[in-house]
Amino acid sequence: MNIIVVKNEQELAQKAYDIIANMIEQKPNGVLGCATGGSPVGIYELMRKNKPNTSGITTVNLDEYINLDFANPKSYHYYMNEELFAHLPFKANYLPNGMKENAEEACADYEKVLEAHPVDLQLLGIGENAHIAFNEPGTSFESTTHVIELTESTRQANRRYFEREEDVPTHAITMGIKSIMRAKSIVLVASGEKKADAIKAMIEGEITEECPASILQKHNDVTIVVDEAAFSKCEKSKLDVVMA
Ligand code: PGA
Repeated sequence: MNIIVVKNEQELAQKAYDIIANMIEQKPNGVLGCATGGSPVGIYELMRKNKPNTSGITTVNLDEYINLDFANPKSYHYYMNEELFAHLPFKANYLPNGMKENAEEACADYEKVLEAHPVDLQLLGIGENAHIAFNEPGTSFESTTHVIELTESTRQANRRYFEREEDVPTHAITMGIKSIMRAKSIVLVASGEKKADAIKAMIEGEITEECPASILQKHNDVTIVVDEAAFSKCEKSKLDVVMA
């Protein structure tokens, strides 16, 4: 794992943006794996501002809620459109279809999309419980795209986006751990003290399905970009770090 510790969210966005822009330059017809949530917002802002040439780039997203209409501002389709797709030209944009009546079929469809479009660079956030995408603790490392029931911790973390607690979706379709691990390279971003336990477990803990992000220790091209607060509980790995 390459670990880059930055001072603040602005630097974090810039570092991750630079990695993405470099991939786009090196592989103008490449596949970019996109993430949603709070962590990538600054990165997408830089993409809107700097406008790298994305016209040949295909994107695939990590996940989508089940039964949230794409026109719903809380859906990840809506988020991606607002943050990125409406602002830059892409070759194609894919997200799992959480509105398909048969969710299992939607998962199989999405695995086919991923097989046809192997990811060159996957952007990831991390949950407070160390989930990646919506792969909650206990998810098999062998999992491909599947339906997941969100844990209480994840629903509480996402509560801020919804008016009422009962509006927070209970299920989602997510790329599996195995689907994510197929990416040629991965950049994971995290900021704030709330992520410090998850970051420590991911970098220094044992590789276990109870800590989904720990599987990244086995990937041969992962860059972790974290701020000082998110990195504050790491000890062993201090020597391997690049201070930005
Ligand atoms: P966040 O979510 O970027 O909104 O903190 C990350 C995640 O849950 O994967």
